[in-house]
Order: sequence, then C-alpha cells, then structure tokens
Amino acid sequence: MLSIVVPTYREAENIHPLVQRIRAALDPLGGYEIVFVDDNSNDGTEARVDEVRQAGAPVRLIVRKHERGLSSAVMRGFREARGDLLLCMDADMSHPPEAIPMMLRALEQNNADLVVGSRYVPGGEVEKGWGAYRWLNSLVALWLARPLSRVRDSGAGFFLVPRRIFEQGDNLNPIGYKTLLEISVKCPCRNVVEVPIQFADRKFGESKLSLREQILYLLHLKRLYDYRFPRATFVTQYCAIGLTAALLNLLVLALLRAAGCPFGLADALAIAAGVSWSFWPNRWLTFDLMEQHPAGPQYLHYLGRTAVGLIINWLVATGLVNHVGGFGGHEFLAAMAGIAAGGLFNFLLLVGKFCRPAVLPGK
Ligand code: GDD
Ligand code: MN
Repeated sequence: MLSIVVPTYREAENIHPLVQRIRAALDPLGGYEIVFVDDNSNDGTEARVDEVRQAGAPVRLIVRKHERGLSSAVMRGFREARGDLLLCMDADMSHPPEAIPMMLRALEQNNADLVVGSRYVPGGEVEKGWGAYRWLNSLVALWLARPLSRVRDSGAGFFLVPRRIFEQGDNLNPIGYKTLLEISVKCPCRNVVEVPIQFADRKFGESKLSLREQILYLLHLKRLYDYRFPRATFVTQYCAIGLTAALLNLLVLALLRAAGCPFGLADALAIAAGVSWSFWPNRWLTFDLMEQHPAGPQYLHYLGRTAVGLIINWLVATGLVNHVGGFGGHEFLAAMAGIAAGGLFNFLLLVGKFCRPAVLPGK
C-alpha cells in the first residue's frame, strides 16, 4: 500500500482540489491512503478533511497541537502511515499528483531505494512565477548540499521511499524544511531515481518558507556535515576560527603598540584576546556542547588545552624581536611567526587527540 503524507499548515482551501486530483490519478490503481499532518491550523482544515472522507476518499488527519515544523510533521506522518511505500508531497499542488503513478513505476522498475520528483533533471521545470530571489535561493541551497547527497534536487518536497529504507534511517531528526535531504543522507538510499516534474506555483494560501526556515536550513546542513564528514568538518571549522583569532591577535597587537605598550606585554594581551574570542565560535560550532557545560569552566578548560601553543606563540614572537637581529623592525612578522608556530602546535595536538571526535576538548 502507498501512504501519501501531506504536511499542512493553513491549507484548508487546498484540501478539496488536492484530494480530487490525487483520486483522479490513483483511484484506478487503488491501494493508497492520504495522511494529512496538520499543525493545529484552525482554519477549517479538519472540516475539509471530514468532507472528503465522507465523499469516499481514503484520508486520515493527524493534528499536532504542540509542535510546528514541516520536516517533523512529515516524520510523524511517515511513522504513523500504514503503507509499505511512503510518499511526501506539499498540499498546495506545487507537486502534480498526476506524477505519482510514474514515480511508483520508477520505483518498481529500478528497484529503487528513493524516487524524487525533481525540478532539476532534464524535463523538470519550475513555473514561470519564480523571481530571481527564489531561484538564487533554491540554487544556493542545493549547491550547499551537493557534497552531502547524490540527489540533484535535494530540496524537493516530493519523494517516494519504501518503508524498509526509511526505517533503517540512522537517528532521523530533521529540522526545518529539508526532509528529503535528511533521508537521503541518513537512510541507505543507494539506488536513487529522479523523475522530472513540473513544479507549479500555489494558487491558494501562502508559502511558509520564512527567513527562519532558511536559518534552520543552515543549522540542518551543519548537522549533516558533522554527521557525514565529522573530521573534515571539524578541521575546517577549527582552522577557519583559528584564522579569525590570528587576525584579531594582530589587530590588538597593532593597537597596543600604537598606544605605546611594550612589545612583550602587547603580544601577550593580543594572544589572550585571540584565544578568548576563538573560544566562543568553537564552543558553538566545533565542540557543540553549549548546553552541556557552563561557559566558565569550559573556558578554563579550553585555555588549559591551548596553553602550550599560546606560550610557544609568545616565546617565538618575543624571542625573534628581542634576540634575532633584523626582527626588531619587523614585529608583525615576528608576531605572525609566533602565531604560526603556536597554531601549528595546537593543531597537531588536537589532531593527535581527535582520532574520535568524541574526545574533543570539552567533550
Ligand atoms: N504540518 C506542517 N507544519 N506543515 C507545514 C509547515 C509546518 O510548520 N510549514 C509548511 N508546511 C506545509 C505547507 O502547508 C505545505 O503543504 C508544505 O508544507 C510546503 O510548504 P510551503 O510553504 O508551500 O513551502 P514552499 O512552497 O516554500 O516550499 C516547497 O518547495 C521547496 C522547494 O522550493 C517545499 O516543498 C519545500 O520542501 C521545498 O524545498
Ligand atoms: Mn509551496
């Protein structure tokens, strides 16, 4: 049996026309149910679903009273669905129900693990109404997800997955809009087929894709990168943050020197500024532990872990300035050499320790 899961938030006007089109496409094939997952829209959705049920449509409605969110609604629908095939689609008829039989055939013929109704394969299309902003948005969003998923249209909300594949998902917990991306990364979707669809503009109601959802998307991506490439993600973040700390270090040094502070003290304060700054983004992004440890002790821990590198930094910089002829006039170069030496030391120390990301500082 096929379960069509339709997340809804204020889509009352779309229920009748959507169900009518699904029925026209699927009644001849039989064996399906439609599961609406509504987040307490209170706009008459329940009454509309009752009406179509009374007219003989195989529909069910789940109302979530205390939760909001597209992906989590889809997850809920998939979990409560009765079918062995799970399909997700929007309520606003952006996704043509007439394409469902083709998706079912594609699944069967290819013995696929995932079938996507895709805008971005030959034959796929987006209706003219999309402005430049939405295009750019959609393409940047897809491009950011490229290394994670082999699905061309990983932002699609129209896809079909066998329940056995869905159930093998590793701790599925999507945030925001991109359910398909989560599934394609965390479920064993080896054989993915994308069938072209024409993505239509909605006629009734309005889109709920807000700025908030776009920020959630970045958080979701970050989680998936951590999941898929834990070490590479960790190293990239750590190095990028280290670079900003180095720049701050040099800036503070320049200011203090301009104010007449002696080099040794100025460099020490500059190093302290750099490391104090780097703690925060590392705490949020790299170590990922903000709820688990209070900031104060974690900061001290961080200082302890980085101390040797910081001392190397200072010793190299002041040593060059004070004892190596020629560096006296090139303090900045000396400071950079110190940063490079200390940074490299801390980096190697960390790389040595982090064979498993679970033992990162703070964990
Ligand atoms: N239950 C529930 N809760 N449903 C929601 C929520 C929510 O918080 N937010 C949105 N929905 C439902 C809408 O009612 C609609 O049926 C569907 O999710 C898609 O929402 P839209 O607001 O129409 O999204 P969109 O058109 O901007 O985005 C669609 O296209 C994107 C690609 O451009 C979706 O299919 C996205 O998944 C897709 O990435
Ligand atoms: Mn829409």
